[in-house]
Amino acid sequence: MNPTQRSLFERAVQVRDCAYAPYSKFHVGVSLITSKGHIFSGCNVENASYGLSMCAEMSAIAQMIAAGEKQISGLLVIGGGTAICTPCGRCRQMIREFAEQNTPIYLCSIDGQCETKTLGELLPFSFGPECLV
Ligand code: THU
Repeated sequence: MNPTQRSLFERAVQVRDCAYAPYSKFHVGVSLITSKGHIFSGCNVENASYGLSMCAEMSAIAQMIAAGEKQISGLLVIGGGTAICTPCGRCRQMIREFAEQNTPIYLCSIDGQCETKTLGELLPFSFGPECLV
């Protein structure tokens, strides 16, 4: 892991501890770094209605937007089990709004295994803001 990945990993581990996941028991932590070098993080927040549950990616992106930033330079996700975790389809589309095709997405496990994919690999031939012309 390079120093940026290390910082993202530490922040994601920290925030994952705060996950509210009493139903799935699958705790997720996400951290992202912006083009300005700021790190934002988020965890999943479940709900008794199940369908209202919020993914960790959404929560991290909301933090970034609330701080006035819009450009994701890298994003790291740590899931619930010992296996590496990959963002769900809805989250891939959410990340797509604020990242580039070549933005690295670090798929990690809590014990430090990480695999790097680009957003374009996770969501090829995608729909985005520039399609609305
Ligand atoms: N989850 C996330 O937070 N991000 C993902 O990309 C995959 C799934 C959460 C949602 C739910 O709280 C739990 O993991 C089990 O699906």
